[in-house]
Amino acid sequence: MNICAVGTGYVGLVTGAVFADLGNEVICVDVDKEKIESLKNGIMPIYEPGLREMVTHNARDGRLRFTTDIKEGVRASEIVFICVNTPPKDGGETDLSYVRAVAKSIAEWMDDYKIIVNKSTVPVGTGDLVREIIEKNKHKDVDFDVVSNPEFLREGSAIKDTLEPDRIVIGAPSKNVAMKLLELYAVLERPMIITDVHSAEIIKYASNAFLASKISFVNLIADLCELAGANVNHVVRGMGTDKRIGSLFLQPGLGYGGSCFPKDSSSLAHTTRQYGADASLIDAIIHINDQRSTRLLAKIKKRFSSLEGKTFAILGLAFKPNTDDIREAKSLELVKGLLDSKATIRAYDPEAMNNVKKIFPEITYCQNAYEATEGADAMILVTEWNEFKLLNFEKVKGLIRQPILFDGRNIYDAKRTHALGFEYYGMGVQPYGGGVSA
Ligand code: UDX
Ligand code: UDX
Repeated sequence: MNICAVGTGYVGLVTGAVFADLGNEVICVDVDKEKIESLKNGIMPIYEPGLREMVTHNARDGRLRFTTDIKEGVRASEIVFICVNTPPKDGGETDLSYVRAVAKSIAEWMDDYKIIVNKSTVPVGTGDLVREIIEKNKHKDVDFDVVSNPEFLREGSAIKDTLEPDRIVIGAPSKNVAMKLLELYAVLERPMIITDVHSAEIIKYASNAFLASKISFVNLIADLCELAGANVNHVVRGMGTDKRIGSLFLQPGLGYGGSCFPKDSSSLAHTTRQYGADASLIDAIIHINDQRSTRLLAKIKKRFSSLEGKTFAILGLAFKPNTDDIREAKSLELVKGLLDSKATIRAYDPEAMNNVKKIFPEITYCQNAYEATEGADAMILVTEWNEFKLLNFEKVKGLIRQPILFDGRNIYDAKRTHALGFEYYGMGVQPYGGGVSA
């Protein structure tokens, strides 16, 4: 099929590359000239395992093209995917200005029947809005349909999630239109949920907010465990083995960041209120998550009488492992909190340092985890990259000024690290060791 993806960010680029890899003819469009030029030269704007190889190979074979010319993309395609960003406004409302702009451009260049698919995460009713904009602005009297087909890809495993999704959601205005999308996705052999446009739009928000609620719930339990002398890691194991609960998305710690959970839960709360329904549960999910880095900072401040002049090694800056994305990353809140308290920071992340440098040029960026711990008064694990899991603590002990470990994601064994001479502070577990205030 001939496909166009407008917006070549995370979603558009991965979607475009995967559709091309499945044998379709794909044109990826973006307003960002630099991004398109780089992509034409095989340079990826983001780090995502397997993406560069997939893009290069399909571009070379002529199935994947990049352009800033939306006219070219729209005219050449039967299906146009809208994949532009939908950032939050103050108060949680979703900013739909990019979606509106793209809908207008599509209307301008459409010269025959098109299926316009919203892949961007958009509040319920946006499909209707896109329909109205196109209807009002189309230059030629051609027919079209608007479909909602939300994505569920996770950064770091975006290609796998696109090729092997748990389900494909298609919200279409009619059976015939749904069939066209079914045809496109059939090759993946995954379960398909065919529904109306409004329900598909809500499925995306409900799914992300539900996952966020699992994380905030477990973090609430973590706080209780810490105060009540329990161990949240054991509690989670006890909960997760119940099939009705499941063990996924129950990892306690610093909470969720990224470009989706924070904005999607705020947007869902906003929409829920807008319709006059009760959003208090969603508000609580957000409130708990907002407190996570403050809680860790409080722990650090309690351990040291003053942070002024103290040096902290931060391991991990990305909002989660296997990505260079720092949107809503918990590391940013921690760095800011530590700098506000006049502490010095030595940080290391395998992929995200260049992005953080733009926000905090004043901190020291290191070549690896060991270099970050050199002369530090404590180390703080923020993002659980694999390479941090089997850190040589003997070696760290020889480099760090004080062997104190704050484990923001509970990846280390408290007893083991304590046996190696470290004071250990996790999230929702009892501290191990604990000396005099430094
Ligand atoms: C996506 C979704 O679209 C968003 O709704 C979802 O919640 C998260 O994932 P993402 O792919 O991460 O967003 O966005 P981003 O990486 O910011 O890329 C968006 C791209 O669209 C950018 O390259 C931007 O230049 C482009 N764009 C934006 C256009 O081409 N035209 C516009 O009018 C606006
Ligand atoms: C998420 C959704 O999973 C995906 O389906 C959607 O389409 C886009 O948003 P993503 O933001 O890439 O994907 O990452 P995800 O792996 O879901 O993690 C989100 C955040 O939650 C990360 O900050 C992660 O550290 C945190 N998290 C995740 C926890 O704190 N605990 C967990 O148990 C799981």
